[in-house]
Amino acid sequence: VQALRYERYGGPEVVGLQEVPTPTPRAGECLVRVHAAALNPKDSFFRIGEPKFVRPLAGTLPRGIGFDFAGEVVGTSEPVYGLTSGLRGSTCAEYVQVPLRMLAPKPKNLSFAQAAALPLVMLTALQALRDDGGLKAQGSVLVYGASGGVGTAALQIAKALGAKTIVSVSSAKNRELCLSLGATLSLDYASDHLPPPGLHFDVIFDTIGEQTFGRWRTALLPGGMFVGTRPTPSLLAAIVSTRLFSRRARLVAVRSDGEDLRTLTRFVEAGLVAPVIDSVFAMSAAQEAFTRLDSHRARGKVVIQVSPPGRPEN
Ligand SMILES: NC(=O)c1ccc[n+]([C@@H]2O[C@H](COP(=O)([O-])OP(=O)(O)OC[C@H]3O[C@@H](n4cnc5c(N)ncnc54)[C@H](OP(=O)(O)O)[C@@H]3O)[C@@H](O)[C@H]2O)c1
Repeated sequence: VQALRYERYGGPEVVGLQEVPTPTPRAGECLVRVHAAALNPKDSFFRIGEPKFVRPLAGTLPRGIGFDFAGEVVGTSEPVYGLTSGLRGSTCAEYVQVPLRMLAPKPKNLSFAQAAALPLVMLTALQALRDDGGLKAQGSVLVYGASGGVGTAALQIAKALGAKTIVSVSSAKNRELCLSLGATLSLDYASDHLPPPGLHFDVIFDTIGEQTFGRWRTALLPGGMFVGTRPTPSLLAAIVSTRLFSRRARLVAVRSDGEDLRTLTRFVEAGLVAPVIDSVFAMSAAQEAFTRLDSHRARGKVVIQVSPPGRPEN
């Protein structure tokens, strides 16, 4: 079967289609015929392999790509979607073996390509805001980097959790997108004063990883939480140094979780959240897909169509 793989570290040009054996599911796993997958920055991070000490973390070369998937369970044809765990990608392939606890029924109102755009970023947003941030109904949240994969998910999840104040920070060209996804106020990081004067938040979610707790501390309400997506030295220091304080910092570490996926399915089927898709590429155009992801300008998700396009449900 065909799978996207790379045999050496480097740019998008190292990625190509290879023939691999059909995976054999173990106990507690099933085989999924993949219709669509999606790319995430961690796919690029491990493909680039810099700094060099990160290379062994994702295992030996050659390696597969992709953690998000949507497809059908072989044998039952049940439509499912989900997120594989770990650092070694595998879902940009015709078949993938998946632990049963890492998938859920695909939302009925979405195509496979739309469903594949959801799991990693939506579970990150859900776990960052609800679990790490403790965001409650009527709460207030600021999402920094609101137009990317995690950011567009976070605006919608904040709204689905009932947040009253949702402030987005993005480039000026993406302000309308942020408002359409639930932001009650949309700021531009290039021209607006940040932190916004006079506003205070229960949760500040930095999806980009370039912001410091020190810069944002005074914009947190007492008991408020600054949540970041990247383990930068600054965030790690803030997590340790704020442990005994009212305003604290945390790093989200997304985990695949069937129950959270089912929560997400309910949100999607209730019309509370929807995928934001930047672009869809065929497997044969994976290098272009990675070029788009690596531009750091994608609005929402870069999706890989795995099964031949043209089937209406794709
Ligand atoms: N810890 C975890 O569990 C976890 C989970 C998921 C993701 N992550 C990490 O979170 C980060 C974001 O992931 P993602 O999927 O959202 O990435 P993404 O979709 O590639 O993000 C693209 C967006 O980033 C914005 N952006 C780029 N550079 C920026 C800057 N300097 N300042 C502000 N905004 C900037 C762009 O918006 P504008 O064009 O509007 O500037 C663009 O819309 C990645 O580092 C990823 O590895 C961590």
